[in-house]
Amino acid sequence: MPTLAGALGRPILLVGGKGGVGKTTVAAGVALEAAAAGRRTLLVSTDPAHSAGDALGVSLGPRPTQVEDRLWALELDPESETDRYMDEVRSRIEEAAPPRLMNEIESQLEAARGSPGAEEAAVFDRFTRILDAAEYDRIVFDTAPSGHTLRLLSLPEAMTGWLDSLVSRRRKLGALGKMWRNVAGEAAGGDAQGGDAVLEALEERRDRFKRSRSILVDPQQTSFVFVTLAERLPILETHRIMTALAAHAIPVGGVIVNQVLPAETSDPFLRRRREMEALHLADIRNRFGDWPIGYLPLVDDDPVGAAGLTGLLGRLRPAQLEEA
Ligand SMILES: Nc1ncnc2c1ncn2[C@@H]1O[C@H](COP(=O)(O)OP(=O)(O)OP(=O)(O)O)[C@@H](O)[C@H]1O
Ligand SMILES: [Mg+2]
Repeated sequence: MPTLAGALGRPILLVGGKGGVGKTTVAAGVALEAAAAGRRTLLVSTDPAHSAGDALGVSLGPRPTQVEDRLWALELDPESETDRYMDEVRSRIEEAAPPRLMNEIESQLEAARGSPGAEEAAVFDRFTRILDAAEYDRIVFDTAPSGHTLRLLSLPEAMTGWLDSLVSRRRKLGALGKMWRNVAGEAAGGDAQGGDAVLEALEERRDRFKRSRSILVDPQQTSFVFVTLAERLPILETHRIMTALAAHAIPVGGVIVNQVLPAETSDPFLRRRREMEALHLADIRNRFGDWPIGYLPLVDDDPVGAAGLTGLLGRLRPAQLEEA
């Protein structure tokens, strides 16, 4: 029987859910616990809002910053990832393209920089590099709200197909070029060693995307855990994205219901809220009963800083004990 603790303990953990439900709080708390338990851990925020640093009370950037013993954290910044990615694309092209075309290519690249898919491609490229890095025992991703993440996770499938076709086209071109050089001699230009930097870069990227895909679909290595509130809209959104992830074969490890109200209350307003909550909790058990479910209480102070975050995570329960 799979458990939530097992899901939270996978080498690659992705924490997802609707905006504001507690993703960053849970991701940072789990990462702190893993580091305290002796694992070299990296916390990665892919959320453009960047609250991981705020939750931990430190300032983070795009490179890993050490925050505790065995814990590093970074925040992916779509803008700077896109700059880095476009620079790399530009230098590849400069190696391969005739200089007289560079002006035209520059303006094409400028247009590509501003196109809607550019930031996603760049963030995704970095995401696959992080998955490839071998220096951590655990990597915890604090993901952006659902839609964004889903596109990110469906990219390996889409991109490897596309890269495969680019690679095979490039190979054909390479073969043609060789024939031409045999006929025309070295004056025809081209790399005398027969190396092809563009082909190598395409193949490296394709192979890395394939590795990412195989990590992401392996339930021994990866789990996706959702945080939700016992409220209608986050439940509906969680349900939708869990169904969609199943279609991409991404292993869903469980659901955490956050901010569960205290059982004891004499306040009529809170009592009424608890009645509503009870209905939503029944709905959650109904929809997500095939997965492990955990419950976190609503606490009366902001769960921030190492002590606040691990204190909250320490109160994660497989059932609503508070209710008993
Ligand atoms: N169990 C809890 N009790 C009290 N406050 C909580 C609890 N969980 C989270 N919070 C607070 O709720 C707010 C939202 O939490 P958090 O930032 O973790 O959500 P998020 O899902 O990451 O949001 P976003 O989608 O904006 O990234 C934060 O101020 C956090 O400190
Ligand atoms: Mg967040």
